[in-house]
Amino acid sequence: MLIKLPKASDCNESEVTPQSVYLSRRALLGGSAAALAVAGLPRWANAATASQYAEVTPSAAPAWLSDKIAAAQWQAMTVPGEAITPFKDATHYNNFYEFGTDKGDPAANAGSLKTEPWSVVIDGEVGKPGRYALEDFMQPYALQERIYRLRCVEAWSMVIPWLGFPISALLKQVEPTSKAKYIRFETLKDPQSMPGQRSNFALIDWPYVEGLRLDEAMNPLAILAVGMYGRELPNQNGAPLRLVVPWKYGFKSVKSIVRISLTSEQPKTTWQSIAANEYGFYANVNPAVDHPRWTQARERRLPNTLFKPNVRETLPFNGYGDEVAALYQGMDLRKDY
Ligand code: MTE
Repeated sequence: MLIKLPKASDCNESEVTPQSVYLSRRALLGGSAAALAVAGLPRWANAATASQYAEVTPSAAPAWLSDKIAAAQWQAMTVPGEAITPFKDATHYNNFYEFGTDKGDPAANAGSLKTEPWSVVIDGEVGKPGRYALEDFMQPYALQERIYRLRCVEAWSMVIPWLGFPISALLKQVEPTSKAKYIRFETLKDPQSMPGQRSNFALIDWPYVEGLRLDEAMNPLAILAVGMYGRELPNQNGAPLRLVVPWKYGFKSVKSIVRISLTSEQPKTTWQSIAANEYGFYANVNPAVDHPRWTQARERRLPNTLFKPNVRETLPFNGYGDEVAALYQGMDLRKDY
């Protein structure tokens, strides 16, 4: 299926940036190319777009990744009219149970994760299995910036500018066999660097596992990300490689991936194993199907406060129905939640 990738010119930056931030950053930078270079911003950035990356902390990406990021196709997809979530919120309000269960735990604890060297295993129903150093794994793919909504099953949401590449490109490389029907993703298991995996109270049978049907993975919206906000992924957001499927609840977006397997059977996923009546395999964002313990009709868009709750209606498929609804034709999404 083809999706229309809007040109950067389709997107009015003053629409996607809070006006106060936009104006103050504009005044600060004065539109000067030199100032942008100093700030280490993406090549395309001008004073207005720079505001979205205003508080991005400096990166320490390896040279191969910095080069890839510099060559990225910027704003390949946007969400016009919705502000990008400030970097501080996107990196300090996280779910990454390997580093603790409080929202601030991943930012506080994920520094212990060593992302270099990193390798990814490709196995199962593929013509080209193997273990690849991340740099070699990434070699064939050009990066695109995809600005997507992220809707957590807990009913909060953000808008994040990811840097990644379509999973369809990976599938072309690894040559799935005719038996391949699903794709399974596995997070690193390393209790030494992941304190949550050492906890005796953890409900999770590590490693964290997620999966997609093959046609879902082939959808052009489904990407593997190595960066966000114009830099590499911070550890708490799933460095160095994570899944992003914007029409599904956030728990499908498995972080810090070390293994990708093509399978003939539907993989058993982490949250399904914990509570199958609450978290399904599909996990498509669906305001019509409530979680057994809370409504999914609305969401809290971060940042928010007690006095500015910033609540909005949740959209079917998180607003990506035109691109993905056809994948589920004939299915009862109340049953296959
Ligand atoms: N991946 C792993 N390995 N462990 C996790 O606990 N949490 C998931 C998902 N990926 C999780 C994970 C959940 S519940 C959500 S909402 C998103 O990551 C949150 O991504 P973010 O912290 O980058 O916003």
